[in-house]
Amino acid sequence: MDHFLYRNGVLHAEDVAVPDIAAVVGTPFYLYSAATLRRHYRLFADGLEGLPHLVCYAMKANSNQAVLKLLGDLGAGMDVVSGGEYARARAAGIPGERIVFSGIGKTRAEMRMALEGGIRQVNLESEPEMRVLSEVAVSMGKVVPVTVRVNPDVDAKTHEKIATGKKENKFGIPIARAREVYAEAAALPGLDVVGIDVHIGSQLTDLQPFRDAYGLLASLTRQLRADGHDIRRLDLGGGLGIPYERSNSAPPLPVEYCAMVREVLGDLDCEIEIEPGRLIAGNAGILVSEVIYLKHGEGRDFLILDAAMNDLIRPSMYSSYHEIVAVHEPAAGVPLAPVDIVGPVCESGDTFARDRAMPPLAAGDLVAFRSAGAYGAVMASEYNTRPLVPEVLVQDDQFAVIRPRPTFDEIISRDRVPAWL
Ligand code: LLP
Repeated sequence: MDHFLYRNGVLHAEDVAVPDIAAVVGTPFYLYSAATLRRHYRLFADGLEGLPHLVCYAMKANSNQAVLKLLGDLGAGMDVVSGGEYARARAAGIPGERIVFSGIGKTRAEMRMALEGGIRQVNLESEPEMRVLSEVAVSMGKVVPVTVRVNPDVDAKTHEKIATGKKENKFGIPIARAREVYAEAAALPGLDVVGIDVHIGSQLTDLQPFRDAYGLLASLTRQLRADGHDIRRLDLGGGLGIPYERSNSAPPLPVEYCAMVREVLGDLDCEIEIEPGRLIAGNAGILVSEVIYLKHGEGRDFLILDAAMNDLIRPSMYSSYHEIVAVHEPAAGVPLAPVDIVGPVCESGDTFARDRAMPPLAAGDLVAFRSAGAYGAVMASEYNTRPLVPEVLVQDDQFAVIRPRPTFDEIISRDRVPAWL
């Protein structure tokens, strides 16, 4: 459930009419609902109540400072995957004890940064990385809590570009080698082995792959404990999918996911960490755009928007589906007709949808892409020198620009022309 609903025929974000924001901010822009973000975070926090746990929001999904502050104020931890994300989390007031550091290629500089500023744990992804972290920690006179990410060779049944738990993927160490790798980790100075980490992919629409992976994790926990390791934390990653196409998809709910976690891992006496990103932010955001032209092509009509692939890359990159709705609610029974919905960027890949059944729309009308709060603004670029799309947050009847649209001057002034040119 989200807070983007029609009221008196006009799409609202909570209590604010979307056209009122468009009039102030201009289009295109991302629009987030504070109530929806809070609601989604609480679904996980409440779902795991009773088990010692920390919900570490995967901030790669949406890392705006306002979003991090809002979630941090509720008690959320953060899953970061770069020095930049670590800096963002700290800048938003998240204490180091609530930050976990994931990612397969952490550099020495990033490790130093986390150790200096404080970190709950580093999730290691390979033996070379483990040895480097040990070296860095020793050189700083620190001991850093670590988990090792295991690759359970489970098929997440999701888009190939976002599946991470098969043996052919670059992530983690093969689960079959875990005992050997844990033995080395335990022997290395500067590392305190506290748990196990797994993340099998994103936009999972079935609980079974999670259940399979977590079952393997439970057996591994017992095995590693028998080997003498004090396994006391399990980081289960993120990945729970959201209904992009509401009419025909209903992925499992967070409450069902949490019940499964409890069932499979609840008796291990471990602290549970989860790293949801998409489920918290995805349906808490829309991308609002204006129709520039309706163009009649040969055998097909094109709805040309002022948003483009640089603003929301998911359709071009993963052929992903986003519901696109008219901001002014079409009258009941109005006939729908198929159109291709495209942006103004100079490549055919700049297509959001083909043959999408839409109500009649004309230049100047507003449309909204639903489910755009995760992996939307964070993946935007300035391709075609289109300014980074601004972000707006709504709470009840108030809204604020939480990242302004850069001016052309600001964009151009980031370049430097060498004196010798
Ligand atoms: N933890 C780790 C270690 C991850 O790599 C990811 C996502 C997450 C947590 C959060 O997964 P989520 O709960 O959001 O599914 N850009 C792609 C998604 C890439 C996901 C990468 N890793 C997209 O737009 O679909």
